[in-house]
Amino acid sequence: MADAIERLERAMAQAQGHLVQVGGHVREVSASACRIGGVGPFVRLGDRMGFERDGDGGDQIGEIVRIDAEGATLKTFGPRIEAGIGTRVFRLGAAELRPDPAWKGRVIDALGRPIDGAGPLGAGATAAPLDADPPAAFGRARVRRPLVTGVRALDLFTPLCAGQRIGIFAGSGVGKSTLLAMLADAEGFDSVVVALVGERGREVREFLEGPIAKARARSVIVVSTGDESPMMRRQAPKVALSVAESFRDRGESVLLIIDSVTRYAHAARDVALAAGEPAVARGYPPSVFSDLPRLLERAGPGLDGQGSITGVFSVLVDGDDHNDPVADAIRGTLDGHVVLDRAIAEQGRYPAMDLLGSISRLASEVWTPEQRDLVRKLKAMMARYEETRDLRLMGGYRAGTDAELDQAIGLVPKIYEAMRQEPGQAPSRDAFLELAQSLRG
Ligand SMILES: Nc1ncnc2c1ncn2[C@@H]1O[C@H](COP(=O)(O)OP(=O)(O)O)[C@@H](O)[C@H]1O
Ligand SMILES: [Mg+2]
Repeated sequence: MADAIERLERAMAQAQGHLVQVGGHVREVSASACRIGGVGPFVRLGDRMGFERDGDGGDQIGEIVRIDAEGATLKTFGPRIEAGIGTRVFRLGAAELRPDPAWKGRVIDALGRPIDGAGPLGAGATAAPLDADPPAAFGRARVRRPLVTGVRALDLFTPLCAGQRIGIFAGSGVGKSTLLAMLADAEGFDSVVVALVGERGREVREFLEGPIAKARARSVIVVSTGDESPMMRRQAPKVALSVAESFRDRGESVLLIIDSVTRYAHAARDVALAAGEPAVARGYPPSVFSDLPRLLERAGPGLDGQGSITGVFSVLVDGDDHNDPVADAIRGTLDGHVVLDRAIAEQGRYPAMDLLGSISRLASEVWTPEQRDLVRKLKAMMARYEETRDLRLMGGYRAGTDAELDQAIGLVPKIYEAMRQEPGQAPSRDAFLELAQSLRG
C-alpha cells in the first residue's frame, strides 16, 4: 500500500512538471533571432526554450538572451530559425551535461552530443552546470607545482605550473594550434579537454588526425566550427569547462585548451548585439568583457584537495593590432602570455616564440636560482643580438670590438637552433640539460 501511494505521488509530481509548462508564441523572426510574446513574468535570461514542432531537442532549441516589456528575444542553436508567426515555444529544463571519464577519446559538439560516429555517450553520475561559478578565490589551492610541458622553449623561458592560465597570442597561421597540441603531450596531466571554436572543418580534421592524435585517448574534444551559429560557438568553451571541472572534482590534473578565445568573443559579441546591447569598444558590447574573465577564471586551481585545470588559451591578434580590446581584456586575466611572431615563423623557426616578449608570471616558482640567473643572461644576450641585427646586416660591426656582443653572435643562433621543435618529435625531458648539451656540441 505504502508502495502504491509512493508511486502515485511520483507520477503526480511528474505530470505536474508537464502540466505547468511555461510557453509563449513567436511574434517576429529575423535572420539572427526571434521575438516571443506571452511568456509573462516566468522566463529568465539564459532559459532554454523549444519550439512546438520540435520541442524535444535537436538544435531547434534556443536560449532567452533578452527580456523586455514587450516579450523576450530567443536565439537558436541551429543555423536557421524554423518558426513562423504564432509558432508556440515552451520552456525546457535547464541545459544539463553529465560528463563521464568514459568520454575521454570522444569528440562532442557544443550541445554535448557525440559527433565522432563512435556511438552514444554514457552519462556520468552528476550534472555539471554550463555556467558554473569559479571556485571561491580564498578556498583555492595555490599554484606552485611545476609542470614539464616537453616544449623546450616554454620549459626554459616561460615555465608553467599546474593550475596556471596562459594565453598564446599570434596572428593566423603562425603556429598557435600546433603549439597547443604539442602541450597536450605533456606528462603529468590525467586528462585533456579541448574546445575548438570557430575553426574551419578542414582545420578540425587536420588537428584531430595530426598533432593531437597521440593525446586523443585521454582527451575530450568539443568542436564548434565557424559555420555553426554564434550560440553554438559561444557555448563550446563552456561545455569544455564543465567537462574539465567535473574531471578536476575527481582530483585529476586537467589540461584545458581553448582555440581560440577570440572566436568565442566574436560569438559572444554576435549574441549580445542580437540581444540589443550597444557596442562600446570596437563593436564589442560590454557584456563580452565581463563574460571573458568569468569564463577564464573557471580554469585554475581547484579548492584545496581537488585537482586543477591548467588553462591554455589561444588569442588571435590580427596584423599589428596590439590594442585589440579582446586581446587586452584576456591578457589582464591570465598568469602569463606567450607571443608567437610571424617574422620568426617566416625564418622557419618553429615554435615561432618571441622569447623576449613572452612571460610566465609563475616562472619564479619553477626556476632554481641558478636557472633564473642563466635565463636572465641568455635573455640579455638575445636582446643584444636582436637590437644589433640591422647594424650587423649593414656591415656596421667588426668582430673583436665588443666582447659581449661577440659572445652573443656566437651563441644566440645556437640557442635559437636548440629551441626548434616539431610536433612529431619526442617531447623534451630536461630543457636546461638539453640546451647545455647543444651549446657544447
Ligand atoms: N612546431 C612546428 N614545427 C614545424 N612547423 C610548424 C610548427 N608549428 C606550426 N608550423 C607550421 O605552421 C602552420 C600553421 O600552424 P597552425 O598551428 O595551424 O597556426 P595557427 O593555429 O596559428 O593558425 C602549420 O601548418 C605548420 O606548417
Ligand atoms: Mg589554428
